[in-house]
Amino acid sequence: MSYNKKNVKDVDVAGKKVLLRCDFNVPQDKATGAITDDKRIRAALPTIQYLLDQGAAVIACSHLGKPKNGPEEKFSLKPVAARLSELAGRDVVMAADVVGPDAQAKAAALKPGEILLLENTRFEKGETKNDPELAKAMAAMADVYVSDAFGAVHRAHASTAGVAAYLPAVSGFLIEKELEIMGGALADPKRPLVAILGGSKVSSKIGVINHLLDIADMIIIGGGMAYTFAKAQGGSVGESLLESDWLDYCNEMTAKAREKGVKLLLPVDTVIADSFDANANSKVVKNGEIPDGWQGLDIGPETVRLYCAAVKDAGTVIWNGPMGVFEFEKFAVGTKAVAEALSQTSAITIIGGGDSAAAVQQLGYADKMTHISTGGGASLEFMEGKELPGVACLLDK
Ligand code: 3PG
Repeated sequence: MSYNKKNVKDVDVAGKKVLLRCDFNVPQDKATGAITDDKRIRAALPTIQYLLDQGAAVIACSHLGKPKNGPEEKFSLKPVAARLSELAGRDVVMAADVVGPDAQAKAAALKPGEILLLENTRFEKGETKNDPELAKAMAAMADVYVSDAFGAVHRAHASTAGVAAYLPAVSGFLIEKELEIMGGALADPKRPLVAILGGSKVSSKIGVINHLLDIADMIIIGGGMAYTFAKAQGGSVGESLLESDWLDYCNEMTAKAREKGVKLLLPVDTVIADSFDANANSKVVKNGEIPDGWQGLDIGPETVRLYCAAVKDAGTVIWNGPMGVFEFEKFAVGTKAVAEALSQTSAITIIGGGDSAAAVQQLGYADKMTHISTGGGASLEFMEGKELPGVACLLDK
């Protein structure tokens, strides 16, 4: 899927009120609510700064978490307003609602060069239903709609897509950058194109594996989903994560890889544990030879060597999903080794958001990667070749 959409530079925003959809869905400390990673807020700054420099008044909005029953303090965007204010170096006015009297009054009073942040868009029930009335009410506060919420463009919600029907709608710099880098890697990659896919479930990566088999030169499988592949090939996987409904799919993908001449690398050995615990007893066994009572929690040392060698001569590497349970130090070896190998290769390295982005960041390799996406589900759906409603709704160039 390729897009050629207008961006903020293609519209006149001077003296206008701009409704800016960001993805401020940031991780927070469960106990204190403190923001633990402000990458998504930082990623919105270039567009915010540009709009303010042009003399626009910015009405920013975002969802945070998944509130189901209206406003709830723990999902309030107040901590985001405070962080945004620090990062932008200016006051951020916080509205007490999304399209209610407070938001409307504050939006009406907003002057060029000022920032208003609306409350969590999901406090409105119509948000996730893409309710036109909510979209209209949001649009009524502004003159132009700019979407820079790459992480949420796979959602057809009122603030991510619906509102575009009522205002001139363009993209911000973050969406443009994400689409350019990931789109370029998929449409015209520097070859060989190697995709490393991990994470716990095959079922969450079905579309991606299928689509990448049409594009990539090599696909490397790790993480929990490798055990479903191992089982499909007749191996024993003990108590490892297994999705029995997807065994045929794994065999189909193996056959498709053979047909297309795409190398499909599966683990040759695995680190197994006697329980799902950070300090569990562990040992290394051959892939598909996991005894009862044991479960695979990481790729083994031989697999690490194989996978690291495979990315060495790549032209482009796309990585989505960890190789093991990297939250447990003992089972983070495979994920760390792949991150390190990527930090050393001269290939273009693109890290899909979510867990693999967190792993790269946590391990200190973030600045060694070409691009770390701010989108989790959004980057996966983009890699699947699916249409992104939050981009499709914007004006064509
Ligand atoms: C994300 O964190 O991937 C985006 O903010 C989308 O969030 P959602 O899965 O709650 O829609």
